[in-house]
Amino acid sequence: MDIELRNIHKRFGAIHANNDINVQFSHGRIVGILGENGAGKSTLMKILSGFQPADAGEILIDDRTIDYTGPTAAIANGIGMLQQDPLDVGAFTVLENFIYGGADGLTLQRSQAEARLSELTARFGFELDPHQLIDNLLIAQRQQLEIVRLLALGVETLILDEPTTGISAEQKDILFNALRELARDEGMIILLVSHKLEDVIDLCDEVVVLRAGLMVGEMEMPASDSGLTSAIIAETKQRLVTMMFGEELETHSRPHYEIGAPVFAAEAIVVHDPRLDMQPISLTAHAGEVIGLAGLGGSGQEIFMRACARLGRVNSGALRFDGADVTGASYRHLFRRGCVFGAAGRLEEGLIAGLTLTEHSALVSDDKLQIDWKLVGERTVSRINHYRIKGRAADTIEQLSGGNQQRVLIGLLPDDPKLLILEQPTRGLDVDSARWIWTQLLERCRRGAAIIFNSSDLEELVTFSDRIFVFYAGRVYEVPDVAQTSIDELGHLIGGEF
Ligand SMILES: Nc1ncnc2c1ncn2[C@@H]1O[C@H](COP(=O)(O)OP(=O)(O)OP(=O)(O)O)[C@@H](O)[C@H]1O
Ligand SMILES: [Mg+2]
Repeated sequence: MDIELRNIHKRFGAIHANNDINVQFSHGRIVGILGENGAGKSTLMKILSGFQPADAGEILIDDRTIDYTGPTAAIANGIGMLQQDPLDVGAFTVLENFIYGGADGLTLQRSQAEARLSELTARFGFELDPHQLIDNLLIAQRQQLEIVRLLALGVETLILDEPTTGISAEQKDILFNALRELARDEGMIILLVSHKLEDVIDLCDEVVVLRAGLMVGEMEMPASDSGLTSAIIAETKQRLVTMMFGEELETHSRPHYEIGAPVFAAEAIVVHDPRLDMQPISLTAHAGEVIGLAGLGGSGQEIFMRACARLGRVNSGALRFDGADVTGASYRHLFRRGCVFGAAGRLEEGLIAGLTLTEHSALVSDDKLQIDWKLVGERTVSRINHYRIKGRAADTIEQLSGGNQQRVLIGLLPDDPKLLILEQPTRGLDVDSARWIWTQLLERCRRGAAIIFNSSDLEELVTFSDRIFVFYAGRVYEVPDVAQTSIDELGHLIGGEF
């Protein structure tokens, strides 16, 4: 299959999210879709995959104009998309989700479906238990499920919107090998939306770049079969950044603030995890300090963070926060004393779909029982300006691009917290936005907050952490000297080599 998009336009009110996009995607090619937050990438991909109609323009498959009326029709035409935030159904099992949405979903026998599911997962080395509930899966596994579901439906073009955020390096390798195989052996078109330029350079044959709704460039990626040198990668990255932002970004290093008194301590706590043999963990966070938690997804770091915020069970040991024992306290109690937990699942836990930005502001304002809408509205506008959010106060949260949703979430953090426990705070952000968010977070450190965060981005961990704790299968190891630790070394540590 070959695809051509002609003169695609899409407006949301005053925003011209896609402004006359013309592009072709050829069979067997892996194409990166790049651009800063809010550039129009997801919009274009949703149009191609039938999730929303274009205002104008044409989609041609093998030189024939196609008219879609929804994602099911797009899939019938061979185009399937993995959304930025997975669309699976939480209360169902893996197998039920696999069957659901299939053309012959209701007639397909469960045993047949299960056989097909395990055949596909085995082929790609995915680890999916058919009888596990979706609610118990990691982000990576939910994405794997969505991929095999679309493949089973016979798609020939697979669109992935930021598939590598929130998954481990190992899971990423498995995914990329699967995608390469699908492009090479089956001639599939793979479209990859990503902010991770290394990933794009590694995987893609070519890229197209969007900026403010316009298509601003196309570029072939250097061939990787002979091995990419770090000089080639660095040079390609620089060229991509210039295309994305219209300028070169300066590199700056992070400021370090004086480390103050202990704010939070985990004293030999054993957190409850049904899947892992969690070892006792001791960790003290001081005012002004940034503590990074490294590890492959599901190595215990997520559960540890939730337990610290009193959102997960602690089997033994003690937690101290702000001078008090909080082992048996609730998150609400910690929150009132200045501890804030920021969840990775933006639209599930952090933000509330259907509510506007102003309404989100109202939720975090102090005067809950009597909302002063004028004041809340003003605060919302000033947050939008301060955090450079592309969106309006009256927009509902799901109208914003993924990166802008993340900015809203960060913007809702209080100004003077004592402790921030943040799951993947820059997940889905472009390079420039991620730096901006860290500037905001470090400003809280300067005012005395301690930060505990996790990330699958090793460079982010090494750049912003004062100390790093590596999680592997429930065991924990503190990196002796972060400043002397390379990304490569950290990569080995998260693989359990300690
Ligand atoms: N349903 C919607 N209603 C209103 N505005 C929307 C809607 N969807 C997208 N937009 C706006 O269109 C613009 C492009 O959004 P889009 O989601 O395509 O960006 P993106 O390139 O995917 O960004 P990100 O990297 O942050 O995910 C943004 O300004 C966004 O706020
Ligand atoms: Mg997007």
